[in-house]
Amino acid sequence: MKKIFSGIQPSGIVTFGNYLGAMKHFVDFQASYDCTFCIVDQHAITVPQDPVALRDQKRKLAALYMAVGIDPNKSTIFIQSEVPAHAQLAWIMQCISYIGELERMTQFKDKSEGKTGVSAGLLTYPPLMAADILLYGADIVPVGDDQRQHLELTRTLAERFNRQYADIFTLPEPKILGRRIMSLQNPEKKMSKSDDNNKAFISMLDDEKTMTKKIKSAVTDSDPNIRFDEENKPGISNLLTIYSLLNDQSIEAIEKEYDGKGYGAFKTDLAELAVSVFRPIQQRFYEIYESDEVDNALDAGSDKANEQAQHLLQKAEEAMGLQRS
Ligand code: TYM
Repeated sequence: MKKIFSGIQPSGIVTFGNYLGAMKHFVDFQASYDCTFCIVDQHAITVPQDPVALRDQKRKLAALYMAVGIDPNKSTIFIQSEVPAHAQLAWIMQCISYIGELERMTQFKDKSEGKTGVSAGLLTYPPLMAADILLYGADIVPVGDDQRQHLELTRTLAERFNRQYADIFTLPEPKILGRRIMSLQNPEKKMSKSDDNNKAFISMLDDEKTMTKKIKSAVTDSDPNIRFDEENKPGISNLLTIYSLLNDQSIEAIEKEYDGKGYGAFKTDLAELAVSVFRPIQQRFYEIYESDEVDNALDAGSDKANEQAQHLLQKAEEAMGLQRS
């Protein structure tokens, strides 16, 4: 069975962007792949996090993975920092990365631009991501479009290691899952759980009133036609994308349905649709979050992940001369 690996940062609560761009699709992979889904807390600390909030966000992310339908009996769910091999292989990956190629990563440029005191971890974020993937021999890595460059670098590092030391790493294939979901307040920017403006994103745990309010105050343009045109009408195009992904309906069909109806009616229906999709997920979430299920799944997940990861780490260390014999 082919292997799938993917991860989400617990740097906030999972947004519509993470859900529609990644998490929603993970569920379907379970039937035909051996899946591992990671809560990447070591990536989250590349920018400052409140320790108490971070701990809670990790448990919430685990419960959300399960609430959307990831079954811990079929797939492995675990926390990155509970598997030390990630940081160990990340160091090896850093040693074969060039500073120039890390500085070229657009995520690094975006997150460091105009900031003083940028952490070294922000620069070495991609070698840690490469380690995550390579430790499990992943064949396929499903991610949103914003992670494409990191995956290209992962393949470059795996190839470089295989050529220089020993042919031990599987070259992972990226599986780009779909369109980028944009900020509701600035549709030129991607929706992000760490946005300072909390009207810019919808969290999967926002209550019904908040979700509705955020959708109704989403930025659109002055031409009232509901038409998909990312260049000239980015706001409504983003809302059409969200509608289409929530309802598994084509954008053309939605455009036709709302022809001549105006933004107000469209936003009201989109808010109702969003609430109806997330109500059952939130109900399951609170049941799981308040039970022992999260810790049981995470304990079993970290045991399984440690066992698998140790095997490839040892091979990589041997190949580089780090093991004594
Ligand atoms: P993160 O936590 O930013 O996002 C998790 C997943 O959600 C996707 N995504 C989006 N998709 C569409 N529209 C958006 N606005 C949007 N925002 C986020 C991301 O593409 C991602 O698939 N570096 C990764 C985490 C990571 C990882 C890994 C992923 C660490 N190690 C190994 C795969 C494999 C990240 O920051 O994801």
